[in-house]
Amino acid sequence: MLLYRGAPAGPGAPGSGLARPGGSPQAFGIRLSTMSPRYLQSNSSSHTRPFSAIAELLDNAVDPDVSARTVFIDVEEVKNKSCLTFTDDGCGMTPHKLHRMLSFGFTDKVIKKSQCPIGVFGNGFKSGSMRLGKDALVFTKNGGTLTVGLLSQTYLEYVQAQAVIVPIVPFNQQNNILSGNGDCWLKISLI
Ligand SMILES: Nc1ncnc2c1ncn2[C@@H]1O[C@H](COP(=O)(O)OP(=O)(O)OP(=O)(O)O)[C@@H](O)[C@H]1O
Ligand SMILES: [Mg+2]
Repeated sequence: MLLYRGAPAGPGAPGSGLARPGGSPQAFGIRLSTMSPRYLQSNSSSHTRPFSAIAELLDNAVDPDVSARTVFIDVEEVKNKSCLTFTDDGCGMTPHKLHRMLSFGFTDKVIKKSQCPIGVFGNGFKSGSMRLGKDALVFTKNGGTLTVGLLSQTYLEYVQAQAVIVPIVPFNQQNNILSGNGDCWLKISLI
């Protein structure tokens, strides 16, 4: 199979075949692969029992990049629906890190103080949380920035999404003002 035939037009130029490393593929007419919202459920089916799904979330909390000392698991009633909550006292996430958490295949865990990370694939949170429920709402804090992110099959069905979209809202802890510029993060009114 011929995957790529280079042309001598210079690196990254349209028609040269291959985008510069780190360049936007779309700018060169190369399509991004998209992920159907249905994949969230199929991906979670790797957990035949819910306990391995719970283990994914616990692994994340104790991994060296988070280093939580305590993790609480509770069941709460929210609008007559049972809601499983996981709370840890680890490092939390920046908005960028939360975006990677709600994406697939991103992981940058390294050995810290001789503790080897459990996570390697960048998939456990997605498969685990979607095995336990249809919707996951993540609240996290890093420095003075609080961020809320949503991975929700209910939301994706409601907006008839064609791909997995993940609303992320960061705001300042002191004044509750949304952070980031308008292009980066979805405005609440659009969610
Ligand atoms: N409780 C948490 N606190 C802070 N960051 C977290 C937490 N849980 C997950 N993350 C971040 O989200 C990323 C994605 O988590 P996910 O479980 O999907 O993948 P992983 O742990 O890197 O790999 P694996 O698929 O093997 O579990 C993690 O690499 C970590 O950076
Ligand atoms: Mg993990």
